[in-house]
Amino acid sequence: MKRDIILGIEGTAHTIGIGIVNGDGEVLANLRRMIKPEKGGIHPREAANHHAEKAPGMLKEAIAVAGVRPEDITLVAFSQGPGLGPCLRTAATAARAASISLGVPLMGVNHCIAHLEIGRLVTDAEDPVLLYASGGNTQIIAFNEGRYRVFGETLDIGIGNMLDKFGREAGLPFPAGPVLEKLSLKSSEDLIELPYSVKGMDVAFSGLLTAALNAYKRKKRALEDVAYSIQETAFAMLTEVTERAMAHLGIEEVLLGGGVARNSRLREMVRTMAEERGARFFAPPGDLCVDNGVMIAWTGWLMYSSGTRMKIEDTAINQRFRTDAVDVTWRD
Ligand code: ATP
Ligand code: FE2
Repeated sequence: MKRDIILGIEGTAHTIGIGIVNGDGEVLANLRRMIKPEKGGIHPREAANHHAEKAPGMLKEAIAVAGVRPEDITLVAFSQGPGLGPCLRTAATAARAASISLGVPLMGVNHCIAHLEIGRLVTDAEDPVLLYASGGNTQIIAFNEGRYRVFGETLDIGIGNMLDKFGREAGLPFPAGPVLEKLSLKSSEDLIELPYSVKGMDVAFSGLLTAALNAYKRKKRALEDVAYSIQETAFAMLTEVTERAMAHLGIEEVLLGGGVARNSRLREMVRTMAEERGARFFAPPGDLCVDNGVMIAWTGWLMYSSGTRMKIEDTAINQRFRTDAVDVTWRD
């Protein structure tokens, strides 16, 4: 019997990712390239051009790294949404071309669900509450009656966007999340009071962003202390709503996902919360937290192997693809 080899193409925003996994969930290749704007934020058109330029070479490289032949690939999956239109279209076009030239099925994958499923694959989490903390998204997700439901989310910007916007205004390189993490370690741990905005299971970050910029630019507080205070406040908000969702749903597992889940302080806060509740804490390794093609390949395989099929017309991109719009056929 032919072994299944799945190619995954991720391209919702700044990163183009090519991943290859097999049907047993072994990661064979995980290549990523991120566009780093000289200044200002991500320009969707420029990011799409970057992805189009890098994708063909990365595809060849991924196949070589995986040690497979193109004709061994049995399924092509791609990030169908949510994300930036031009980036999504570029990834979808690359995936359609690969699927046609290899003569194998094509599967459009919800990017948010992929962040969750990769965590279930590489950790022992079975039925967790997922704290999905990335640039564009901040959601508390759990499985319920055949869907991944969003129990809480940001009411304005994603936590990573908040960190990156602060960084941009403060003259830090993109992405600022990891830079702020390093700075925070040098802080005198003198906590600056910043708006703590939790409403039920939702959070908001724009007030915190404004106040943090004010503290740095007008009040001339040390950048290290501002970085520290942003992290302490924003991560405490996330930990609080995650705990509330776990209590409400009676779930004893928590899983982190998304680029901000790389942050050690966020991991520590959520882990401590889980331990205090007698719950289990999980987080994937950093290179599977950020946008990557592996998570797309694996989720595409979960869909395909549980009976989902897509015709070309089902593979249109969806910039506002909702987490709860997908029928989760691979779980009971
Ligand atoms: P999505 O489409 O899921 O919203 P995304 O496009 O934001 O994803 P990711 O790669 O999941 O992409 O996350 C990128 C974000 O993660 C950036 O905002 C970046 O600043 C943040 N980030 C990365 N590493 C760290 C870190 N160590 N601490 C805090 N934030 C981090
Ligand atoms: Fe992402």
